[in-house]
Parts: sequence; structure tokens; C-alpha cells
Amino acid sequence: MQDRKTAIITGASQGIGAGIVNAFVERGYNVVATSRQVSASSAFRASGQLALVDGDIGDPETARKVAETAISRFGTIDALVNNAGIFFTKPFIDYTMEDFRRLSSTNLEGFIHLTQRVVKQMLAQKTGGSIVSITTPLIDHPIAGLSASVAMMTKGGIDAISKNLAMEYARDGIRVNTVAPGVVDTPLHKDNPKDFLKTLSPMGSISDVQDIVDAVVYLTEARHVTGEVLNVDGGAHLGKW
Ligand SMILES: NC(=O)c1ccc[n+]([C@@H]2O[C@H](COP(=O)([O-])OP(=O)(O)OC[C@H]3O[C@@H](n4cnc5c(N)ncnc54)[C@H](OP(=O)(O)O)[C@@H]3O)[C@@H](O)[C@H]2O)c1
Repeated sequence: MQDRKTAIITGASQGIGAGIVNAFVERGYNVVATSRQVSASSAFRASGQLALVDGDIGDPETARKVAETAISRFGTIDALVNNAGIFFTKPFIDYTMEDFRRLSSTNLEGFIHLTQRVVKQMLAQKTGGSIVSITTPLIDHPIAGLSASVAMMTKGGIDAISKNLAMEYARDGIRVNTVAPGVVDTPLHKDNPKDFLKTLSPMGSISDVQDIVDAVVYLTEARHVTGEVLNVDGGAHLGKW
């Protein structure tokens, strides 16, 4: 039990996050799963390896509770998956400052609050660690008709900080990578027709949660990979099709 690694997963109550929680528990990790209502989720089985912490990721108090739970229950923090995120499209001129603040709070402030605590703990442990965050290929490869400018300002921030942190903490063995999914079949897309979603990748298909989970697990355990963006998007990052 002592040798188990501990992973923190945000945005864990459903969709990609819930899939990542189940995969890490199955792989023998201790897991702290967090989201606003993760304790009400029926996406995973109760387990001594799993601790649930409710809270808004944009609130610094949530990061404090999550990090303290990981250390008091399991002793270490070895991996973090910054998966909590919101996304919506709008013409640029229709985005409001309230939209911007909501996107920034969840996608950016949430990243900073928790990642700072995790890096501090990893530095104290002196055994390295992994941070994987979920972004999107739309940051660098916008699709005509899918207007997400302000949302991309925040997701692009995660991409930029991940590369910078990869360099800053390389000597400490803390690896920082991102997974950039195309369209994934999750509750995020419950109101979008599948036939339309399939047109958003050259392969003409959409990913399952497991496709993204596999990429996150790979990067978490890839001991010599850092500063990388792993596109899991059926080729959407290649450009026009
Ligand atoms: N699905 C896709 O096609 C796709 C494509 C590219 C990137 N992504 C990214 O992948 C990540 C997961 O997407 P998904 O499709 O699984 O989304 P989802 O089904 O909408 O789930 C989002 C998760 O984030 C949590 N969450 C939302 N706001 C939060 C907040 N303020 N504080 C704490 N937790 C919050 C939600 O739980 P609670 O409601 O309990 O808080 C939920 O567990 C997101 O970052 C998304 O942008 C998704």
C-alpha cells in the first residue's frame, strides 16, 4: 500500500475526468477526485484507494482541501491531471466579461491554485512527478464556423504555462504535458448532433473517453517525455480537410 502513487484528478464527476479516475484506480494508484459535485457522482465504485473532494476549482480553498486530502489520506502527490474545464462557442463580439471571468476562473485560476500546491509538494518529496492538462487542438488550429476565441484564450494559457513549467522544473524531474482532444463523446456534447461533430476531424469520427484516458495514462508514466502536446483528434491539428 505504501508504494502506491497518488494522483489528483480534477473535473472528475463525469466524462473524461471520470474515465481517468477509473483508469488510475484500476492501475493501482491512490486517487483524489474533485469537482463541484463529485461526491454525488455514480461514475465510480467506492474504494479505499479513492477520496472525493467537492469544490469549485476556481476557489483556492478547493485546492487546499484537495492537496491536504491527498497528503493526509495517502502520504504523497505524484501525479496531477488538470481536466476540469469549460468550453463554449460564440462570435467574438458576443462574449461578455462575465463569460471571460467564468472561463478564466475554471480554466486558468483553477490550474494555478492546484498546480502550485502540487509542485510545492513534489519539490518537497524530491521524487519528481507528472502534470497532465487537457487542452484542445483548436488553440492553434481554429475551424471555420466554430468560433471559440475567448475560450481559446484560456485553453491557450494552459498550453503556454505547461511548456514553461516543463522547462522550469525539468531538473526536478517534474514532467508537464498536455493532451489535446478533438471531439470526445461526453455530456459536454449532449446537445450537439453527432453527424455534425463527426465532420470536425479528417478521420470523420469522434473519440471515446477511453481514447483520451489512454493518452493521459501514457504521459503520466512516460518517464522521459515533457513539454509535449499529444493530439488525440483524428488528425484535426493537421489543418484543412
Ligand atoms: N468533450 C470534448 O469534446 C472535449 C474536447 C477537447 C477538450 N475537452 C476538455 O476536456 C475536459 C473534460 O471535458 P468533458 O467533455 O469530460 O467535460 P464535461 O462532461 O462537461 O465534464 C466537465 C467536468 O468538469 C467539472 N467542472 C466543471 N466546472 C467546474 C468547476 N468550476 N469546478 C470544478 N469542477 C468543474 C464537472 O463536474 P461538476 O459539475 O461536478 O463540477 C465535470 O466533472 C475539459 O477541460 C474540456 O474543455 C473536451
